[in-house]
Amino acid sequence: MAEPKRPAAGRPKKPAPRKKRSTKAEPPPPMIEVRRIHRRDLNRVWEFLKISFHHVNLETVEYQRPRTKKRFLKTYDEEGVDQLVFEVGDEIVAYAECAHDVLGADNWINEGYFERRKMRPLFVEELAVHPDWNGRGVGGFVLEQLHHLAKVRGLSHLVLEVAENNEHALQWYRKRNFRKLDAAIFLAAAVDTEDELLPPKPVKPPPPGTESVAPTPPPEETA
Ligand SMILES: CC(C)(COP(=O)(O)OP(=O)(O)OC[C@H]1O[C@@H](n2cnc3c(N)ncnc32)[C@H](O)[C@@H]1OP(=O)(O)O)[C@@H](O)C(=O)NCCC(=O)NCCS
Repeated sequence: MAEPKRPAAGRPKKPAPRKKRSTKAEPPPPMIEVRRIHRRDLNRVWEFLKISFHHVNLETVEYQRPRTKKRFLKTYDEEGVDQLVFEVGDEIVAYAECAHDVLGADNWINEGYFERRKMRPLFVEELAVHPDWNGRGVGGFVLEQLHHLAKVRGLSHLVLEVAENNEHALQWYRKRNFRKLDAAIFLAAAVDTEDELLPPKPVKPPPPGTESVAPTPPPEETA
């Protein structure tokens, strides 16, 4: 006689517990918005830039943001510069500045470099995220916006300068397909230094026969 079939090994499955539906709806995530700068934003954006670049400027040879407030304010009146403010609510969380012409007499960029390579660059002069908002995709959104600007204007590359020892930003850009164009690095060699002024030296005694001039005592007072 055939043996009765044994039941399949393993415990009978318990019905999966029903997921409790939370009655509270998740609050919507904060929204980031981009707009062009207004004159009334200038002071707030300058304060934002000082905070965002504070730790970077402690480590780099060149200033990584406009050197002075005066220079920053002047940019607002220059033609051909896009200044973009990124906000969550009414808080400034990021700022970007770009232009498709090389601006300013103090600029050392050689435009021929790009022309010879058939590159039409969008120069990104500033890109900064408030430190309280780092790591939340804000910088990613700024970059998306800059790519979008370049695309709609028929420009072929985003070009920017970053200090090699601003390692966080450099890695961040590399991960996002930025590649080094040129090798302008600051080099320094230590010099064996000597003080310009000589050290103290003993003075010779007066030559023989020269009497030393003693200070004249004050006249004695009469009673
Ligand atoms: C570089 C910079 C723009 C990045 O902005 P961000 O908003 O932090 O960027 P995102 O959130 O899109 O990406 C941050 C990356 O760092 C990681 N990260 C996580 N926590 C982080 C934190 N607390 N702080 C910074 N980055 C963090 C994220 O996971 C993400 O990693 P990924 O590169 O693997 O994607 C920003 O750090 C910055 O403004 N730095 C100071 C100014 C500066 O140096 N600008 C560039 C010179 S021109």
